[in-house]
Amino acid sequence: MATRKTSIKPSPFPEPKPPGITVLVLAAGVGKRMHSRASKLAHNLAGKPMVRYVVDAALALGAQRVLMVVGSQSEDVRQAVGTKDPRVSFCIQEQPLGTGHAVLSAEKVLKGAEDTLLILNGDLPSLRVETLRSLLEFHRQHAVPLTLLTAVLEDPAAYGRIVRNYNSDVARIVEASDATPEEKQIQEINAGIYCVEMKHLFKNLLQAGANNAQGEIYLTDLVEILKRNHQKVAAYRHPDSEEVMGVNNRRELARAGKRLYLRKAQELMDAGVTFLDPECTYVEANVRVGRDTVLCPMTFLVGDTVVGESCWIGPGTRISNSVVGEGTEILDHCVITQARLGRGVKVGPFAHLRPDTELAEGVRIGNFVETKKTAIGRGSKANHLTYLGDSEIGEGVNIGAGTITCNYDGEKKHKTVVEDGVFVGSDSQLIAPVRVRKGAYVGAGSTITKEVPPYSLAIARGRQVVVKGWAKKHKRKQH
Ligand code: UD1
Ligand code: CA
Repeated sequence: MATRKTSIKPSPFPEPKPPGITVLVLAAGVGKRMHSRASKLAHNLAGKPMVRYVVDAALALGAQRVLMVVGSQSEDVRQAVGTKDPRVSFCIQEQPLGTGHAVLSAEKVLKGAEDTLLILNGDLPSLRVETLRSLLEFHRQHAVPLTLLTAVLEDPAAYGRIVRNYNSDVARIVEASDATPEEKQIQEINAGIYCVEMKHLFKNLLQAGANNAQGEIYLTDLVEILKRNHQKVAAYRHPDSEEVMGVNNRRELARAGKRLYLRKAQELMDAGVTFLDPECTYVEANVRVGRDTVLCPMTFLVGDTVVGESCWIGPGTRISNSVVGEGTEILDHCVITQARLGRGVKVGPFAHLRPDTELAEGVRIGNFVETKKTAIGRGSKANHLTYLGDSEIGEGVNIGAGTITCNYDGEKKHKTVVEDGVFVGSDSQLIAPVRVRKGAYVGAGSTITKEVPPYSLAIARGRQVVVKGWAKKHKRKQH
């Protein structure tokens, strides 16, 4: 049957370009309540520094520019942002004199911008890009100078409260430390997420004082100032209060971390990954996992790890910055760091694969085996109690129980090469630098110091001496 050709004509009315959006992230606070040497925003949650979640949400929103307000000392925050995206830039708030002061420190840099500015507290790691989209949409529909994102909390604790007037319009925000007992009862809180039209921002915010319990210039005073100047303020009430919770102390850090791990698990389950218990399986933000893979409890997948399809991992296993091929099984209590594992590999239980381990298809690494800077060829096995370091193991090799590559002479590391089809008997030491050639055998209990030629047998151990009848003459005390 002939298919009808469809020609897509360009529309005579091109879609209007969405108005540009600039995001300002407030990241210069001290974060006293964390009791940390590091800046609060550099703390890690589920695989990313706190502030990075906010930056990523802003970028995913399609912001044309993401401006970070950071303290003059906060090198760690800059590092935590850690993106080379040209849309991200920094400006300095010399002293942490409050959120309003932080916004004012960006005035020069933002001068001339006429668009909508989205202001975000930097301590909102659970914030989703969809929520920001809904907020922007709401802001555009209401066409007001300022829209706040609010949420209703069972326990509004230290959050700023939304005070509404007789006809339930937003009148002002009162910080918990300035609130009267009645105001403290208000459960609708300010999330620290604001949409503001640039042309209304600075001229109004400049009117904010620091006459409050904390002696700071509050961004939240902008609401009252706008209202005083007969401007409208809208509030977008977000239904998921957990998502907009700020992280101010270690308890909130733990809670947000847990939530982010669970969110990642849910994403992966929706894409076909099985979790025996998603509540206690910890897959970090950047990890990728193929479908039909089973993740057991207390498994940690860390950093830029990629796990293929139909694998079995855990329980109690940690894999960091590694690649795991399809159909590979990594059993209980393994630690795997910066390693590459091919398809159909079997590892563990209790194995330790250290950086620069490369396992080809079908390799088997058993219990209490440690590898480092070692490549192992197809189908080779090291099943028990072995250390392989700085080595190259060929295909179809059998490494017997208790084999050790003695790679370190006290000063330097040396290489061991074991070629294809070699059989290394149990309890052997390979003293590097050394090479065991193709198809050779190493007798059990050997200490190999010299090259073993192809297809030969090397035995390097004390010869057995048998003294007949010796035991009878040296009768042991009988119990
Ligand atoms: C702020 C809000 C509060 C709201 C809450 C939501 C104010 C005055 N209060 O309170 O109404 O309920 O967030 O989580 O805004 N920062 C700077 N420079 C400063 C101070 C802070 O950049 O001088 C940054 C911080 O790094 C942080 C953000 O601003 O990312 C918010 O500061 P924080 O001290 O956490 O404000 P809250 O007391 O939580
Ligand atoms: Ca906060």
